[in-house]
Formats: sequence, structure tokens, C-alpha cells
Amino acid sequence: MPAIVLVGAQWGDEGKGKATDLIGGQVDYVVKFNGGNNAGHTVVIDGETYALHLLPSGILTPSVTPVIGNGVVIDLGVLFEELDGLEARGVDTSKLVVSANAHLIPSYNRTLDKVTERFLGKRRIGTTGRGIGPTYADKMSRVGLRVQDLFDEKILRQKVEGALEQKNQLLVKVYNRRAADVDEVADELLAYADRLRPMVTDTALLLDQALTDGKVVIMEAGQATLLDVDHGTYPFVTSSNATAGGASTGSGIPPTRIDGVIAVLKAYTTRVGEGPFPTELFGDDGDRLRKAGGEFGTTTGRPRRCGWLDTVIGRYSTRINGTTDLVVTKLDVLTGYDPVPVCVAYDIDGVRHDEMPMTQTEFHHAVPIFEYFEGWDDDITGARTLDDLPPAARRYLEAVEDMCKAPVSAVGVGPGREQIVAIRDLVR
Ligand code: IMP
Repeated sequence: MPAIVLVGAQWGDEGKGKATDLIGGQVDYVVKFNGGNNAGHTVVIDGETYALHLLPSGILTPSVTPVIGNGVVIDLGVLFEELDGLEARGVDTSKLVVSANAHLIPSYNRTLDKVTERFLGKRRIGTTGRGIGPTYADKMSRVGLRVQDLFDEKILRQKVEGALEQKNQLLVKVYNRRAADVDEVADELLAYADRLRPMVTDTALLLDQALTDGKVVIMEAGQATLLDVDHGTYPFVTSSNATAGGASTGSGIPPTRIDGVIAVLKAYTTRVGEGPFPTELFGDDGDRLRKAGGEFGTTTGRPRRCGWLDTVIGRYSTRINGTTDLVVTKLDVLTGYDPVPVCVAYDIDGVRHDEMPMTQTEFHHAVPIFEYFEGWDDDITGARTLDDLPPAARRYLEAVEDMCKAPVSAVGVGPGREQIVAIRDLVR
């Protein structure tokens, strides 16, 4: 099974880094295909914690070639800051390759992201403020800047000038901000050109050759299913395709070469930013789950909104992504809860819905219908096989499998790399 997509099944922060890490030894390439430094994954190796935002988590595995695909938007300052940080801790980052077609996040888009959110007030999206949305908008409007433009200074300056003709109108006239200067923007980007150049390649061609040679390629999504710009809870979404389909457009690997889709599902649900969240817990209940799960953002430090597992979302994720394997994470966080509520369907204005409703208006009205599962008190952080888990935890997993309509192939039982119950090989 050489080409595998890895996605988040909910609203992000499911622990995808841990899943890539689990299969790291069998993998040759890890490709990031969407998003930018709005992502954040924490990987713990030998007690050392690494917080990555832009780089694929595969960068920590020496045998892996990490790839930043064409579907990614890159903040060059952040890229080199992360690389320098890892090098300073002894991590060899020299294998990183970057697509010549990936887009760059210029400083004016960071400004625009933040001022637009402020301007929206109560209607804000709750973005990470990293310039992600405006940069994808530029890509679609065909005024974006790409990695390859750094190697043609004249073209880069022309493109910045063209973009700023529009952007400065917005910055000055709508948002009452200082206009961005063409040379300042271009110089800031060009300062990275020499250092970036050796990493840049035609990554679609590279990956095609890798697959032909029988190498194992993992395509790792940033964000998650319900943050996908097409299939998520629009407009409270990110600006890229974070579902399995995005892996093809964002990497250049065609759908017919994809062999499997791993969806990472947290044993409960979290969300950052605004937007509907049917199983959300408030007050002390929310605080208890947030504290137990350490649910604070890697990128922004924001407290995450927390709630019970929602299997309507789980089923939807399986359907949209074509999930072949589920990796359930953070099961240990539910230890001590009894009973454990699981949302199995929604009541929407008096009508039962077993599937995601068609419209956002209905989703906003969704009231969870819960089933209650017996809890467990035993510490499960040392479990390594299904038999090590208490019967109630196993029943919870069987219910997840049944309701999310995909097999559970691994279960995370703690933050450490080895704290996993491996049921079935993910690379087959
Ligand atoms: P943006 O991606 O910065 O434009 O933010 C759009 C929405 O996606 C906001 O609700 C963010 O909180 C959310 N978001 C972006 N990246 C992540 C992530 O890695 N995990 C969880 N939520 C995210």
C-alpha cells in the first residue's frame, strides 16, 4: 500500500502527528498537501516535545524525506525559524523538499487576515491570523506569489506590484491601515531565496518517481474534515481542502494511485475558533475535559472548545474521505468518566437526523441525541494490545467502529510515541 492519505476526522488537533510518527519507520516520504503554519502538531520523542506548525511531522524521522507540496501556503520566516529551531536541537533537516508551485504568504496578507477579522466583529471566523485565507484567495484570484517567483526577481517585483494595486486600496481605504511598499515586500521575500533554492523541486515529479520505485508515501493533511473549505462547516472553515480529495490536487499524486486513507479521530471532540459544535460542553464540564486532555492550541495557545464524541461527524468523515483505517486518539483522557456520552444522531427541529444535515442552518439547530456507555477507572496509559484495555474501553471502541463505519486500526493511550495500542498495520 504505497500511497496513503492521513486526515483529521473532526475539527483538527486530533493528533495526526502521532499517527505519522507511529508509521514513520515504514515510510519514505511525508507530504504536507494543504494549509500552512495555521496547523500545529506536538510530537513527543524520548521525552522531548517538538511543536511544529509548518513542517511535516516526518521531519523528525531520519529515514523520511519531508515534502511541502504545491497545495501549501508558506510563510518563509516561519519555515526558517522552525528549521533553525530543529537544527539547534540536533535534528537533521537537510532532506526537506519544497514544491516550486507552493504559494508564499506575503506580509500584507498577515495584516489583512487580522484586520478583516477585527472588521467582522461578531461575525469573525476566529482564524489563526497567519494570512492563510487571504493567500488562498490570491491563489484563486491569480494574483498569488509562488516559490518559483523568488528565482526571477523581475517577475516577483511585478507580481507584488500587481497584487498591491488592489491590496493597498483595501488596506488604506477600507481598513485605514498603512499601504504596503512594493520593494519592502519583495525584499523581505527575496532575502530567503538563496537559502530556499536547494530545497525547491518539482515535487509532483519526485513523488511520481518515488511511487514507481515502490516507495511508501504518506500525504498528511493540515486541519481536518470539518474545516475543509468545501465539505466543512462553511464559513467557519479554513481556506483549503483538508479532506482526502485535497491530497491529489495538493501533491500532484493522482486519485488512482492512492491506496488507503487513515482518518484520525479523537475519542471526544474539540474545536478552535468560531462556528457550530453540537456536542460542546460548557462551564465546569468543558473545563474538566479541557484540563484532562491538555486542550490548548499549539499554534495560538487558545483554549480549545471541548465536547463529547460525535459519531454523526465520524460517519460523515468516513464517507467524505473514504476512510480505510481509523486511528482513535486520547482514549486515556476519558478514563474516570462514567457514563461516557456519545452523540449518535441529531434532533433538528423535532426531526431525527442520522447523517450530517444538508444545510448549515440545520446544523446550527442540531441537538445531540446521546447514547451512554459504561466508563472505566483503570489507568490505560500502559496498554499496548486490545486485551490490555478494560472491557468497557473495548466496548467504546467497538461502538466507534460500528457508528463511524470504519475499522479502528490503532488507539492512542497517552502522549508518548510508544503509548499506542496497535491493532492492524497501517501500511499494508
Ligand atoms: P485559518 O486556517 O487561520 O484561516 O482559520 C480558519 C479556521 O480554521 C479557524 O476556526 C481556525 O481556528 C481553524 N484552524 C486552522 N488551523 C487549525 C488547526 O490546525 N487545528 C484546528 N483548527 C484550525
